[in-house]
Amino acid sequence: MSAPPGKIDLTGLCHRFSRHGPTILSEINLTVDGGQALALVGRSGCGKSTLLHIIAGLLHPTAGSVHISGQPVGKPSAKWNMMFQSPSLFPWMSAAENIALGLRYAHRPKPEIRERVEELLALVHLSEHGEDNVQQLSGGQQQRVALARSLATRPEVLLLDEPFSALDPFTRSGLQEEVRAIAAQLGLTLVIVTHDVDEALIMAERAVVMAPKPGRVVADIALTCTDRAALRAQVLEPFEAAQPLPAHSAPDTAPARHFLSLFPLPAFKS
Ligand SMILES: Nc1ncnc2c1ncn2[C@@H]1O[C@H](COP(=O)(O)OP(=O)(O)OP(=O)(O)O)[C@@H](O)[C@H]1O
Ligand SMILES: [Mg+2]
Repeated sequence: MSAPPGKIDLTGLCHRFSRHGPTILSEINLTVDGGQALALVGRSGCGKSTLLHIIAGLLHPTAGSVHISGQPVGKPSAKWNMMFQSPSLFPWMSAAENIALGLRYAHRPKPEIRERVEELLALVHLSEHGEDNVQQLSGGQQQRVALARSLATRPEVLLLDEPFSALDPFTRSGLQEEVRAIAAQLGLTLVIVTHDVDEALIMAERAVVMAPKPGRVVADIALTCTDRAALRAQVLEPFEAAQPLPAHSAPDTAPARHFLSLFPLPAFKS
């Protein structure tokens, strides 16, 4: 049976950047249902971006596996797209040209690209700015172009690494709600990394709280209750309590798991 589109499965993920370096992520096991909006929250340095890069296939974990829609993730794909804090647009191109890039690389026919770009410009409320050079656009408008570009290839999963933190509070709150609504409209799975608990409450239906050294999951909270103050307190409590583990007690299975993955045992029939 094939997995539902956009379902993310993380199994036994461990990561260190170098053989003798510290364990950055330790035994992360997490399932995100297709179409779910999940916020990864935690203090600076707890490994949120590292985890997101691993989910996106931009970084190989030392041990463990990532599956999206049932497929193992080993490299970036048009099915899962990432949006960063800076929109990283090509400054000499128009909004429409930036949005069309992924489709041009995929060698889609010109009329299809034109139609899709118009659709996306409308979705992010930039229909009147398609021909504008991106340098003429505001920060919020540039992030909208980046969002449209991420959506162009019809991904099943959108991964966001603090995409609004460089924007002013007014623009930021508008975009938070807009992105959540667009993701819901398109049935996308959303994983948003943030250290802003209020952003998590606006954008997600579930919050996973991480603690540092090593990066690990310490709480998994459904954000379904309507009492916002109570939810805020529920997320803040593990967020603020999260402490590094004493060096000797940090579970450190990464090297052994990595070694074993190089020499897989033969499968036995039961
Ligand atoms: N390329 C790298 N090489 C070595 N160490 C790294 C590398 N990238 C990140 N780290 C370390 O991994 C840890 C986790 O970093 P990461 O960027 O994932 O944290 P974060 O939770 O996203 O933090 P922030 O909220 O500040 O963005 C940090 O201690 C960082 O120094
Ligand atoms: Mg980060």
